[in-house]
Amino acid sequence: MSTRKFRVGIIGGGGIAQAVHIPGWKNLPEVEIVGVADVSEATAKKAAAAAGASQVFSDYRDLLKLDLDAVDICTPNKVHTPAVLAALEAGKHVMCEKPLAVTTAEVRQMGESADAKKLKLMTGQHQRFTTPGVAAKAWIDAGNLGEAYHARVRAMRRAGLPPAPGFIDAKLSGGGPCMDIGVHALDLCMWLMNFPKPVRVSGSAKTVFAKGHGMPNLWGEWDRERYSVEDFATGYVHFDNGATMVLESAWMSHQEEQEELLAQLYGTKGGLKWPDAKFVTVVNGTHAQGSLTHPVNVQHPHWAEIAAFYDCVVNHKPSPVPWTETIKVIGILEAIYISSTEGREVVPTV
Ligand SMILES: NC(=O)c1ccc[n+]([C@@H]2O[C@H](COP(=O)([O-])OP(=O)(O)OC[C@H]3O[C@@H](n4cnc5c(N)ncnc54)[C@H](O)[C@@H]3O)[C@@H](O)[C@H]2O)c1
Repeated sequence: MSTRKFRVGIIGGGGIAQAVHIPGWKNLPEVEIVGVADVSEATAKKAAAAAGASQVFSDYRDLLKLDLDAVDICTPNKVHTPAVLAALEAGKHVMCEKPLAVTTAEVRQMGESADAKKLKLMTGQHQRFTTPGVAAKAWIDAGNLGEAYHARVRAMRRAGLPPAPGFIDAKLSGGGPCMDIGVHALDLCMWLMNFPKPVRVSGSAKTVFAKGHGMPNLWGEWDRERYSVEDFATGYVHFDNGATMVLESAWMSHQEEQEELLAQLYGTKGGLKWPDAKFVTVVNGTHAQGSLTHPVNVQHPHWAEIAAFYDCVVNHKPSPVPWTETIKVIGILEAIYISSTEGREVVPTV
């Protein structure tokens, strides 16, 4: 019997890699993290030590020369596309942090490359693996919502601007709160709506506070000169099935909550709020409401996401977060930016 383990390489060994991806891979006994690539040698060494990996690289193209089954990409957003394409070209299955890319053209290029090579490609949308995410999906799949005709998506922070250049510099991130936290709530909501096709989007993205000095920030100071993304965005979406959606996302705002993540679905049979897992329906002609019972209790959603990716590769299952779904999420966000810049309604290229 072969003792060869499933061999993984990590590209980008920073915050999210060290906090949850490396522990998630180490939680799988059949897996070995072979190497880490990071442009920062110190970060690569630190992540490799945590991963028990013997090889460290500053250029990910060198990591990709190794005998690897899969690559896990945790770099700033704008590095996702070249790293994913290079990994696919090298014949590796790929899991990549959100947002997979900041344009639909890039998502399509990656997805078509993966399909042509019969390789798995998964976007790291860990909210789908949380306890309330799983519970909401099960409640909707059981038919309790009916047809979703409208949704509200909110990813709104009061003082939660991430100061790292990888988030605030458009050349590295490609977008602000939309691409950072909006993408989480939007992906979750689209998943609960069974991914209708967005056909028209109107949006506005603006920098209200982040260029100035008037707002407090829980995570400290940031470079105002380098700040080049929105700090607030809103969008209105029409879908091909007639459903509509309102989206709002911010890193800074005057609101009571430090952070509000919300996907609220209005259906013909019921209504649902995530992540509260609260539902409303009608029983015997009267409105009834309650909290969903949770079919599972997920301790570590990122670990569950990594385990699902591993499972799809070794057991030849479809990607748990396929690019064909991701392109609709990115298509909405991209259309919000285009609509804001050009002052018109936009047809997403999904
Ligand atoms: N799912 C979540 O909950 C979650 C949370 C935080 C971040 N993220 C995503 O994870 C990604 C990374 O975020 P982070 O917070 O870990 O950032 P980070 O800055 O802490 O880490 C990114 C690392 O990538 C490295 N890097 C940059 N360019 C590189 C290149 N060309 N080759 C190799 N390494 C390179 C940097 O040196 C850094 O160590 C982002 O896409 C972000 O959106 C997801």
